[in-house]
This record gives sequence, structure tokens and C-alpha cells, in this order.
Amino acid sequence: MSLDLLVKNAVLTTGETNVDIAVNDGKITAIETGITAESGRVIDAQGQLVSAPFVDPHFHMDATLSLGLPRMNESGTLLEGISLWGELKPLLTVDAVVERALRYCDLAVSQGLLAIRSHVDVCDDRLLGVEALLDVKKRVAPYIDLQLVAFPQDGFYRSVTAEKNLLRALDMGVDVVGGIPHFERTMDDGARSVKAMMKIAADRGLLVDMHCDESDDPMSRHVEILTHETLSLGMQGRVTGSHLTSMHSMDNYYVSKLLPLMAEAEVHTIANPLINIMLQGRHDTYPKRRGQTRVREMRDNGITVGFGHDCVMDPWYSLGNADMLEVAGMGLHVGQLSSRDDIRYCFEAVTTNSARIMGLEDYGVKPGCNADFVLLQAQDAIEAIRMKATRLAVVRRGQVIAETAPRVSALSLEGRPASVNAAHYSPNGNARGSGL
Ligand code: FE2
Repeated sequence: MSLDLLVKNAVLTTGETNVDIAVNDGKITAIETGITAESGRVIDAQGQLVSAPFVDPHFHMDATLSLGLPRMNESGTLLEGISLWGELKPLLTVDAVVERALRYCDLAVSQGLLAIRSHVDVCDDRLLGVEALLDVKKRVAPYIDLQLVAFPQDGFYRSVTAEKNLLRALDMGVDVVGGIPHFERTMDDGARSVKAMMKIAADRGLLVDMHCDESDDPMSRHVEILTHETLSLGMQGRVTGSHLTSMHSMDNYYVSKLLPLMAEAEVHTIANPLINIMLQGRHDTYPKRRGQTRVREMRDNGITVGFGHDCVMDPWYSLGNADMLEVAGMGLHVGQLSSRDDIRYCFEAVTTNSARIMGLEDYGVKPGCNADFVLLQAQDAIEAIRMKATRLAVVRRGQVIAETAPRVSALSLEGRPASVNAAHYSPNGNARGSGL
């Protein structure tokens, strides 16, 4: 039988080497050594890593690439970002939001980022962002799994029409219920908002992903309410707390009770390392808190942790490149996750863990899974993060949808970068390294 695609001599994140990957009808049909079948296309992986695609479980696609509109965020704080977004919202058009989102999706595909959960602000009575991103979701569906979260940016109770708009957005086809309890006027309003939104999700059978405790306030307790509601409504495994930055500042004894409760409720967590390290601790003098939630401790308690990009060139963050390896790299630095296993865990945080949080089906480099994967210019996940590895080939349902030429400056423990010209650069003769 002839195959659609055959990848030869790949390495997998499981550590398996010299494997061939057979693809037919958009699915991985076999992973073995020495597959000899005819194939429409053959890719020689040359001993490099084939990974399942990158997954961004927390993004804001309605705001992306709007940097400078209508002005820059001068203080760099979360709160100025929210008010700046409030200035931009009335100026948005559906066409402009769609155009920017599609440009971002082009970038995402080139980076092997093929699943994105994006929050979409519902605190605009026109629901313009919802209309735009539902259109984008349909257009990119052959290439990207785009999941949308109804996000009441200005507060479920604080914004008078938020509740009605959130329900309208869900009726229009938005997939997930969002929230922002720490932005309500009082802790009590925040707690009430969590309960109300959890009830909406339970009634409709939807997933939940709330921006939760995104502050440096050690007394912010909304994730506890979220967890309690998860248990009492029987929604284990279907609820995610995004950010949870206040946990960085919480009392240790309190956290020692909270984490097992979250594990019991199967509440997932998403840290957003680039944004958390940029926005948190802004009001500290020195020492400054890092603000990233307790990734290591959550992992050790059996809680699934994903890393999100959150923002790219928008009112909150002026940088970013859809590169989930940069996100993983920041997460491991901020969390001091430096052992070999720790670093591999950070790779999982931008792949398998985030796929689990999004509930993606048939995800993974295994027979029977969708033929979605990325060939990276790296020999393992650790090197991929270290080098922000080039995406040599990006495959979706068996089709190569993006390719990038290998980078020549790669440095391994042995040898010298291939780009070095020994005739003109040889500070130590030819004694150094073995490559040239
Ligand atoms: Fe966010």
C-alpha cells in the first residue's frame, strides 16, 4: 500500500530513536523502524526530533498585533493595559480584527503552533471580537484548532452588560466559559462571579477557563472558590485556572492545603511566563517578586500545568513571536526548573499538557493519532528549548504546511557552529572543537 507521507529516521520525545512515521488519510498509521512502503512524499528527519505540534492554551487573539493602537502602554502594568484596551475597543472593526488574527495564524503555523485557546472579550455590546474570531476559527480550521473562551474583560458584575453578552457569545458558538474574578469591585463580588459562571458552564456542559487571582495579592482566594465549585458541580477535569499569580505570594501553609484540593478536583493551571514576569511585582521595590505561579509544586501534586503565550504585540506586551519554545524557556527560568526532567516538563507544558487542558482529541505522535507534527532542528526536547529550534517542517493532517531551512549556527557540546569560517576565524588554531 502506498503512503501519503513517510518520515524516516526520526527521534521522538519519548526518547525512541531511528523511527519511521507512516501517514495515510491524515492519520499516523505506523511508527516503526525500517518502514519500506512507497510514499507520495518522504522526509528524511536525519535523526532530529519529531514532536506533536505546539499548543498555546492561553491567548488573546482579538488584541494581537494591535501594538500602539491607539497609544502605547507607558507604565507597563496590567491595569494600564486593560484601560488602553478599553480605549481601543470602540475603534475596532471586524475586518481589522480578522486581518490581524489571520496574520497571527500565519505566524503560528510557521512556528508549528497548531492549537490555540483564545479568550475573546465579550464586554462590548457589539460582540465584534466574537463575530471576528468565530469567522477566523472557521477559516483556519484546516490548519489550527482554535478554541474560544467568552471572557468578560471588564468584570462579570462590574460591567453591567457582561452577563448578558457572555450568554450571547456562548449562544453564537463560543466554546468555553471565562472569567476575571480578581477584577470585580470586591472579593465577595469575585466569589459570586465564579459561582455564577461555573453554573452557566455546568448547565451548558462547557469547559471553564478563568483568569484567576492575576495579582500580587497574597489574600486573593478565587482559585479556592473555583476548585470548590468544580467539586460540588462534578466538573472534575473540565476547569482551568489561568495565571494564578497571587499563589506566588500566598502563605505556604495555605498553599499546602490548596494544591491537594486542586489535584482532587482535577483543576488545571495555565501559567503565562512571559507576561507574568513582565507584569507581576510591578509595585514592588526590591526584592521584586517573580509572580509566576508555583509550577513545580503543582506538578509534584499531580496538577496538569500548561504554559500560554497570552499576548503578542498588544496593549499588555509589546514583544512575542508565537514561539512556544520561548514561552517554555521563560517558564523554566522563572520557575528555576533546571533539571533534565524539569526542562522536559516545560516542553510538555507547551505540548501534551496544554493539549490535555484544551481537550484535544487524537493529539500525539502515536499510531491512530492525527498526522499533525513538527520536525524540529534539535535532537531532543531540551535542545529544542535551548536553541528555540527551527521548525524544519510543520505537518497538518499529513500535509506539509510550512517549511524552514535549517539554521547553520546550531551549537552542540561537540564541534563548532557550521557558520564559522575557520579560514578567517580561528582564535585557538584548529585545536578547539572537532567540527572544523
Ligand atoms: Fe490572558
